[in-house]
Amino acid sequence: MIMKYKSEDVSDTNRVAEKLAKSIKGNEILCLYGDLGAGKTTFTKMLAKSLGFEDEITSPTFIIRADHENNGMFLYHFDWYRLDDPEDLERVDFYDVLGHGVVIIEWADKFNHIIDSLKSASLGSKFSNQGEIIKIYFKHVQLESYGSRSNNVREIEVEYGNLNN
Ligand SMILES: Nc1ncnc2c1ncn2[C@@H]1O[C@H](COP(=O)(O)OP(=O)(O)O)[C@@H](O)[C@H]1O
Ligand SMILES: [Mg+2]
Repeated sequence: MIMKYKSEDVSDTNRVAEKLAKSIKGNEILCLYGDLGAGKTTFTKMLAKSLGFEDEITSPTFIIRADHENNGMFLYHFDWYRLDDPEDLERVDFYDVLGHGVVIIEWADKFNHIIDSLKSASLGSKFSNQGEIIKIYFKHVQLESYGSRSNNVREIEVEYGNLNN
C-alpha cells in the first residue's frame, strides 16, 4: 500500500509523521529517501516526538547512528550518507539493533540492496523480531504557482506492505 501526501509546510509534514506514529508497533524499519533538504531529519524529529521520545533529535550525519530511549522503547536513528561500504554497517552494529526498536535510516538509498535483502533474510527468521519495512520518499516539488513558498512544498510517499512475516 502506498500513501501519497502533499506537504506545503513543516506542519503538514508533522501531520504525516503523527499519522504514521499511530501505526508504529516498535520494531519497524523506516527507510527514508530523498535529496539533501528534502525533510528526512525534520520528519524523524516529528515522528520521534509523536512516539514520546523527549530527546533533541539531530542529524546523525557524522556519528552515523544515534540511539534514543523512552520508557524501555528504543529508537535507532541512522544516517548512511557518509558510508561507502556496506561492511561499515557491521561496525555501527546495524544488524544487532534490528527488531529491538524503531530503526530509522536516512539515505537508505546508499545500500538499498541491503534493505531488500533484509526483507528476504527475515523469511528465514534471521532477525526474528524484525518488523515491517516502511519506505518513505521525500521529494521537493517546484511549482510556479507557489511562488516563493515553493521551497516548502514536498511530496511524501509512504510505502507500506514490505511485510516479511
Ligand atoms: N514541507 C516541509 N516539510 C519538511 N521540511 C520543510 C518543509 N518546508 C520547508 N522545510 C525545511 O526544509 C528543511 C529540511 O531539512 P532536513 O529535514 O534536514 O532535510 P534532510 O534530512 O532530508 O536533508 C528544514 O529546514 C525544514 O524546515
Ligand atoms: Mg538529514
